[in-house]
Amino acid sequence: MLFDEPSSRTYLSFSSAISRLGGRCINLEFNKSSRMKGESMEDTFLTFQTYVDAMIVRVSDSSFFDMIKNRDLAKIPIINAGCGNISHPTQALLDVLTMREERGTVNGLEISVVGDLKNSRTVKSLLRLLKNFRVKVNLVPYNKYLAMNDDKYLNEIQRGGIIIEKFNSIRDVIEHSDVIYMTRLQKERGSYGNTFTLDNKLMSKGKQDLVVMHPLPRNQEINNEIDADPRVAYFRQMKYGLWVRMAILYNLLVSNN
Ligand code: ASP
Ligand code: CP
Repeated sequence: MLFDEPSSRTYLSFSSAISRLGGRCINLEFNKSSRMKGESMEDTFLTFQTYVDAMIVRVSDSSFFDMIKNRDLAKIPIINAGCGNISHPTQALLDVLTMREERGTVNGLEISVVGDLKNSRTVKSLLRLLKNFRVKVNLVPYNKYLAMNDDKYLNEIQRGGIIIEKFNSIRDVIEHSDVIYMTRLQKERGSYGNTFTLDNKLMSKGKQDLVVMHPLPRNQEINNEIDADPRVAYFRQMKYGLWVRMAILYNLLVSNN
């Protein structure tokens, strides 16, 4: 696993998935690697793939996977474990699995995506996947600066049939949402401002079968007083991540051989 950004869930769930499937995993610690001697990320990638059958890669550089693809550098399966502020596809798969497991079906749901819509890669991958379903998505940024203003991207999403509506506050959506998908402020990508906080008071306005999700880690946008509420799914969501990543690895490396 080659990660140039911090991770707990993605790293641990992929490691666990690999060992549960009978595989072994090696990992390069950046601060002990030749990256510290000025080796480029590209050369680090080429070095790493010499020694493994597949790679799981998290990078801060949003153009990294395009570069790998355009220059045809990948000689083994490469899994995107989070790319800059643009994509986190395995998270999207586990997010949709969570909705399906929690509510029985994804079609027909009203999903409110709250927080840092500008820089959350999980949101962008989730919307891309949700366009295959009949859902309504409410976009609720913390502030104007964190709104999703990329019209080209939004048009592409809407062409898939998903209905998108924009709101200014979590208070405007809490009562009619089936899913609330919270996100933290991506400070490391320059995001700033105040956040909303989902607490017991707001939860009391939510539906009985509301599903509260968060890719995690959380900061102050979720008050841990709601953790015991059965509608809170973010801890179960982490576990769905393990099953999804086992399925991905199995399909990529075991069932095709
Ligand atoms: N863990 C998720 C990600 O890597 C969400 C986050 O960090 O806010 O994108
Ligand atoms: N959801 C997620 O990607 O978590 P980590 O950043 O901890 O891997």
